[in-house]
Amino acid sequence: MFKVKTYNKISEKGLSRFNGGDYQVGADLEAPEAYILRSHKLHAEAIPESLLAVARAGAGVNNLPVEDYTAKGIVAFNTPGANANAVKELVLAGMLLASRDIIGGRDFANAQTQITDAADMGKLMEAEKKRFAGNELTGKTLGIVGLGAIGSMVADMALAMGMKVAGFDPALSVEAAWRLPALVERKENLQGLLACSDYVTIHVPAIEPTKNMFNSDSLAAAKDGLVLLNFAREAIVDTSAVLAALESGKLRKYVCDFPEPAVINRSDVIALPHIGASTAEAEENCAMMAANQLRDFLEHGNIVNS
Ligand code: MLT
Repeated sequence: MFKVKTYNKISEKGLSRFNGGDYQVGADLEAPEAYILRSHKLHAEAIPESLLAVARAGAGVNNLPVEDYTAKGIVAFNTPGANANAVKELVLAGMLLASRDIIGGRDFANAQTQITDAADMGKLMEAEKKRFAGNELTGKTLGIVGLGAIGSMVADMALAMGMKVAGFDPALSVEAAWRLPALVERKENLQGLLACSDYVTIHVPAIEPTKNMFNSDSLAAAKDGLVLLNFAREAIVDTSAVLAALESGKLRKYVCDFPEPAVINRSDVIALPHIGASTAEAEENCAMMAANQLRDFLEHGNIVNS
């Protein structure tokens, strides 16, 4: 029998993959052979001698001590692509929120509680709506940094919206870029991408070469009025450089999935509580993929990570 210890709440559908096998699955198991988890941070926890594999139901592995696992021969899985659709859809929402005053317009309409007559309300909205005018995405250029599963899906979506798309990946070769649509113009460096883009969205992991890659030097190359979207990791962007770029007008908006104290409550920032992958569908997909990976490894010794 294999014991699989759960951290965080894992989708029932995912955990049901262990049914029909010889598994005990739960949060309080002694001497587990495997862990399945979402975002619980494991760096400070002792590694049990029994542990053979860890499956993270998500893309990033920053919450796992991967080097320690490797040294002990423990296999660490992630679930690349399994939550990509959820992130892709939020990138679209982020671009729209940055371009149309959806929240301002909603708040303005909601604030008119003193008006009881529909015709009066109509007149007021007609008189005031100009200040909520925005811009369209169609015809603009989206720069995508990171051309893996998420970046490639974002490219498809942006092309379908009538945007032009440019891409840059600091690690992946052109051939390796995952299902990248042919219409994407591949750039050789970040500066080249920033210089041609109206919107830039980040989909690289936070690893040594990507840390602070958006800093005052690289941002200086951006087109004035750029909208920068970061649904990847906080560490990839130097927040003080972003704030300076917002002040100078180099950046028009910063949309991020990390509400750092320095960026919240600014009209030029939309900061969300790391909900890029928080959909019922993504939770299920990630949990099912992670459970399949563990079963395949524990029962057959297979290491399948895609
Ligand atoms: C991921 O690593 O998959 C994303 O950051 C989403 C998440 O973990 O919530």
